[in-house]
Amino acid sequence: MIRLPGLIDPHVHVREPGQTHKEDWDTVTQSALAGGVTMILAMPNTKPPIFDASTLDLALGAAKSKARCDYAQFIGAGPDNSDIAASLADKSAGLKMYLDSTFGELRLDDMSLWMPHFANFPKDLPIVLHSESRTMAAGILFAAIYDRPVHIAHISLKEEVLLIKAAKERGIKVTCEVCPHHLFLTQPPPNPPPFSPKMGEGKGGGRLEVRPRLATKEDVEALWQNLDVIDCFATDHAPHTLAEKDSENPPPGFPGIETILPLLLTAVSEGRITINHVLEKMVTNPRRIFNLPEQPETWVDVDENASYEIHAADLHSRCGWTPFEDWKVKGRVTRVVLRGREAFKDGKILVEPGYGQNVRVR
Ligand code: NCD
Ligand code: ZN
Repeated sequence: MIRLPGLIDPHVHVREPGQTHKEDWDTVTQSALAGGVTMILAMPNTKPPIFDASTLDLALGAAKSKARCDYAQFIGAGPDNSDIAASLADKSAGLKMYLDSTFGELRLDDMSLWMPHFANFPKDLPIVLHSESRTMAAGILFAAIYDRPVHIAHISLKEEVLLIKAAKERGIKVTCEVCPHHLFLTQPPPNPPPFSPKMGEGKGGGRLEVRPRLATKEDVEALWQNLDVIDCFATDHAPHTLAEKDSENPPPGFPGIETILPLLLTAVSEGRITINHVLEKMVTNPRRIFNLPEQPETWVDVDENASYEIHAADLHSRCGWTPFEDWKVKGRVTRVVLRGREAFKDGKILVEPGYGQNVRVR
């Protein structure tokens, strides 16, 4: 048995308000606890999106009554809300800017729309960018021009990790995260590591859709080779139902909050990373980057020798599937204590909805 601190996942799509048939504050925080995650930062691309005081209240009201682990909520950058977003910064996890196409309605195309956000949002919190490839390069240029921190969400490409490395060497305030699916899966056709056969089921291949897309083996290898450039592991837990994934118009996104730790522990058992990498990228660094409080009397007990298969039927997300179906992993979360209370033990959630606290309320 090993004891870890509670993990932080800085990139989670909760789906409440608006799309609770996919997930809500209750189910996502159960999934978090069962995965050893005790704090989540929630993304703003809900319905409606979170972009002002009343929509923030909507999300935080639901979280207050339903969350079982601790949390904070991002504000979304819109075309004309930079003053409002800055005024709500204290109550938020940070500002999220969507600069490339993905699920939701928050994309900002014109760079002149980025400027007021970079100028106004307080510099003690990062602006988190969904920005891929050359858009990411533009985002890093903005960080340099405005001399402020940016955090690049879900990097997936060799060119991205190399550019971030170079930018860090020049002292630009850029940090980044990588998701488990970009570390453990490659573009189809599956070259090792293989997809679960169930990933190919369903018409249209919608189960493979995710933004950023799964990358090549060379990209995946570059991420593993540059782990020192990667500040955080984040799931981008993006639950959509299996019916939606198998439909004519499949939305992009994978669930992941309950499988990240077993996947990483398996990599630890195989000698690909160390447990210190996991703690640095899932506790110390996210806490520093997002200015998050410590959680007293909080820990995760893990049976590092438990070998088993991942099955969606055992997971707590409402979405009902996982891209890692049938994967063999080694390392099981047996018990989670959150702020002095047993929150999860032997497969059972033991804290009630509403036990979770907003870490931005002081
Ligand atoms: C996310 C979602 O479904 O909200 N989808 C995804 O493919 N990652 C949106 C996002 O993070 O880009
Ligand atoms: Zn996301």
